[in-house]
Amino acid sequence: MTVREILTIGNPELRRVAAEIDPAEIGSERVQRLINELIDTMRGANGAGLAATQIGEHVRIAVMEVGENPRYPYKPKIPLTIAINPVIEPLDDELVEINEGCLSVPMRGNVQRHVNVRVRYLDREGNEHDEIKRGLTAGTWQHECDHLDGVLFIDKVDDPTTLSTWDEFNAHHRDAFIERITAFVDRVGS
Ligand code: NI
Repeated sequence: MTVREILTIGNPELRRVAAEIDPAEIGSERVQRLINELIDTMRGANGAGLAATQIGEHVRIAVMEVGENPRYPYKPKIPLTIAINPVIEPLDDELVEINEGCLSVPMRGNVQRHVNVRVRYLDREGNEHDEIKRGLTAGTWQHECDHLDGVLFIDKVDDPTTLSTWDEFNAHHRDAFIERITAFVDRVGS
């Protein structure tokens, strides 16, 4: 198991646009090892997702997984997903305001995300996927794909008064957010 260092906001590496992976390279030891390191690092930090950019690898790979997550107890489950060269396309104009966190940013804040998106990507075996994601899961996909373009959630926070540390979020905003987002998840389904 290899846990890599996660870069934090201010590190210029987080602002680089990652390069696509040649599908012929997916089976290589280099790419497979990087995927394993992303999974280990995400799990070690209780993240819901991690993009290669966040460990200073500028290739378009993100991993996502949500089980019983202490950082995000309200998030619907996501099975371990490896997304190589992911492409996201909003399906309509519906937006939801999500309070997000990030392993690279020691704060949380509110961001508008598309509720319904189509995602296309390759998995670690090189199989093509074309799927619809909704709700908080769609938000997680948008967050991770933003990383691959050098974008952090904090860039998209329209109202800076929603920014808070994790401790202050838990003390003052967590309950109201969980109530609102749980009602949303119940309606949207994920
Ligand atoms: Ni992040």
